[in-house]
Formats: sequence, C-alpha cells, structure tokens
Amino acid sequence: MNATVGAFFGWVIVIAYVLTIMNYIMKAVNKKWGKSIRKNEKLKGPWQALLSFIVKYHKLFGIITIVGILVHFYIQFNRWGFVVSGAMAAGLMIIQAILGGYGAYKKTRKGLWIKAHRTIAVLLFLAIAYHLIYVYQNYNF
Ligand code: HEM
Ligand code: HEM
Repeated sequence: MNATVGAFFGWVIVIAYVLTIMNYIMKAVNKKWGKSIRKNEKLKGPWQALLSFIVKYHKLFGIITIVGILVHFYIQFNRWGFVVSGAMAAGLMIIQAILGGYGAYKKTRKGLWIKAHRTIAVLLFLAIAYHLIYVYQNYNF
C-alpha cells in the first residue's frame, strides 16, 4: 500500500512541477505569438483562460509540490532510508519555494530572486530526471 502511495506522490510532484514551469512557457509563447493567437476568434478565449489559470495558480502549484515532497519523502525515507538523488531534487524544490515566497512577499518580478527562481526551475528538471533514472535502475518496484 505504501509503495503505491509513495509512487503516487512522486508523480503528484512531477505534475505540479510541470504546471509551475508552464508559468514561464505560457508567458513566453504569449509574448511571441500572443497577438496572432488573439486574432483567431476560436483560440482567443481558451488561450486567455488557460494563461490566466496558469499564472493565477502558480503559487498553489508550487505549494502542492512541497506537500507532495513531504509525503513522498516520509514514505520513501521509511522504506529505503536516505536517497541522495531524491534529496537533491527535494532540496532544490525547497529553495525554489523559499525564493518564490520571497518574490511573492516583495511583490516584484525584478532582481536576483527571479533569476535564481528561473535557473532553479531548469536545475529541478535535471534533478528530477536524474532521480527517476536512478530509482528505476536501483530499486525494485
Ligand atoms: C522533487 C523531489 C522528488 C520527486 C519529483 C520525486 C519523484 C519520484 C517519482 C516520480 C518516483 C517514481 C515512482 C514510480 O513510478 O513508481 C520516485 C521514486 C522514488 N523516490 Fe522520489 N521524488 C522526489 C524526492 C525524493 C526524496 C526526497 C526521496 C528520499 C527518500 C525519494 C525517494 C524515492 C525512492 C526510494 C523511490 C523508488 C521507490 C518507490 O517509488 O517505491 N524521492 N520519486
Ligand atoms: C516547483 C516549484 C516552482 C517552480 C518550478 C517555479 C517556477 C517559476 C518560473 C519559471 C517563474 C518565471 C516566470 C516568468 O518568467 O515570468 C516563476 C515566477 C514566479 N514564481 Fe515560481 N516556481 C515555483 C514555486 C513557487 C512558489 C512556491 C511561489 C510562491 C509561494 C512562487 C512564486 C512566484 C512568483 C511571485 C513569480 C513571479 C510572478 C509570477 O509570474 O507570478 N513560485 N516561477
């Protein structure tokens, strides 16, 4: 039972993480192609709705990743002990949430924090990919 719950929360983190980085991707696409998308009557509404959904709930998705990590960590740590690849991903994720919280508190999108926040978003991708390759090679599910 714990194995399924542990794996489930692993995937909760991955999905919530993807939703958080959509904040960057959607804004970038909007900047480049937003005008042409809005010219298309059929795409205009859904695009605008999706964009505001991703931006509006960015903080919530970030918080879900943290809750997911706490549960996943609790279960995996009790089953297998310390897992370096998991700890690296979780460590980056915690720094990421602290930075995001700082930016939200300061209410600014300028400065070192946002540069670090964007950089860590990419590093997290690598860390999660490494963790997945590592556990698939070293653990019997
Ligand atoms: C950002 C942080 C993390 C993410 C996104 C993540 C994600 C995942 C995912 C998706 C799986 C595969 C589950 C499956 O398909 O069965 C997994 C497995 C695993 N993770 Fe993590 N994990 C993270 C942090 C951690 C931490 C901190 C630990 C430390 C104990 C850990 C230990 C494990 C272990 C032992 C497995 C393999 C065993 C199993 O799934 O039952 N992970 N993780
Ligand atoms: C998995 C965790 C997270 C990832 C991968 C992530 C990623 C990102 C990225 C890539 C951006 C840049 C968007 C742009 O260029 O405009 C951004 C912006 C931002 N993030 Fe995060 N973030 C995470 C968690 C959080 C959390 C937990 C909070 C706050 C509680 C937060 C608050 C913010 C704020 C305030 C901005 C700037 C304004 C905005 O675009 O809403 N982030 N995030």
